[in-house]
Amino acid sequence: MTNGAWRDSGPSAFQGRRALVIGGSGGLGSAVALDLARAGADVLATGRAAGPLRSLRTMAEAQGLAIRTARGDATRRAPWRTLARRAGPLDILVHTPGDYWEGPLSRLSERAWRALVDSNLTSALVAMQEALPGMRLRRYGRILLFGVAGGDSPRAAPRAHAYRALKTALLSLARSVAVEEAANGITVNVILPGIIRTPDLPRSFRATASRVPARRLGTPHEVSRAALFLLHEESGYITGSALTISGGYLL
Ligand SMILES: NC(=O)c1ccc[n+]([C@@H]2O[C@H](COP(=O)([O-])OP(=O)(O)OC[C@H]3O[C@@H](n4cnc5c(N)ncnc54)[C@H](OP(=O)(O)O)[C@@H]3O)[C@@H](O)[C@H]2O)c1
Repeated sequence: MTNGAWRDSGPSAFQGRRALVIGGSGGLGSAVALDLARAGADVLATGRAAGPLRSLRTMAEAQGLAIRTARGDATRRAPWRTLARRAGPLDILVHTPGDYWEGPLSRLSERAWRALVDSNLTSALVAMQEALPGMRLRRYGRILLFGVAGGDSPRAAPRAHAYRALKTALLSLARSVAVEEAANGITVNVILPGIIRTPDLPRSFRATASRVPARRLGTPHEVSRAALFLLHEESGYITGSALTISGGYLL
């Protein structure tokens, strides 16, 4: 820490930093994208659908912020060339896609399973593979992925078998890359959210606040606060960590 002061927020904490937020139009991604832009970062946010990206730009403009957006499917490598050109040399990569599915195991088709693997794992792998060479060259990088509360141990999740298995695998992948890249000034961390009140949170989850020890759902801002902490230049010694943000749920 410099001069004993913590400078993770404020309009210049991320000045001069280039950030790519994959899934920046989503509930948690948009909170992180907006807070990074507010803290001075040059943010490019992506998603597949145009409408939510447009809403993000409108929201940013209403707050006096500028966020660039680009459409692209993160499970595919092809759009990366265009994306990399638009994003410029990256300091920060935030990856949020991670589709949820629940149901009886017998109903999980091979096609649905592969789609979940692509959404939760392949897209994170591709993003890291594409971002890392530039970060290595400049010997600086902050990578943040999204798992799920409890995803730091192989616990049972009846009806959400695939989702939880893939989130546990994501953390293992992140930790391996964290070790490989530590000497290059690159950190890789994973946020493990509990139930966060995002606009698209399934209705069934909204009624679960009573099961959360804190007796309420989390907010996107609470997740984003933690994200900016992990993405800050001064957090360079924190790598391979899994930060649970769940109000005590699923510990
Ligand atoms: N919200 C929670 O309570 C909660 C709890 C535990 C874990 N998590 C995890 O936290 C992460 C973020 O959750 P969230 O609630 O913010 O999700 P969300 O609102 O559904 O947002 C997902 C974002 O990713 C984008 N996306 C999805 N698939 C994509 C693809 N193939 N290519 C490019 N962009 C893609 C979506 O935009 P498009 O659909 O337009 O592409 C959207 O911008 C997820 O990994 C989720 O599993 C969330």
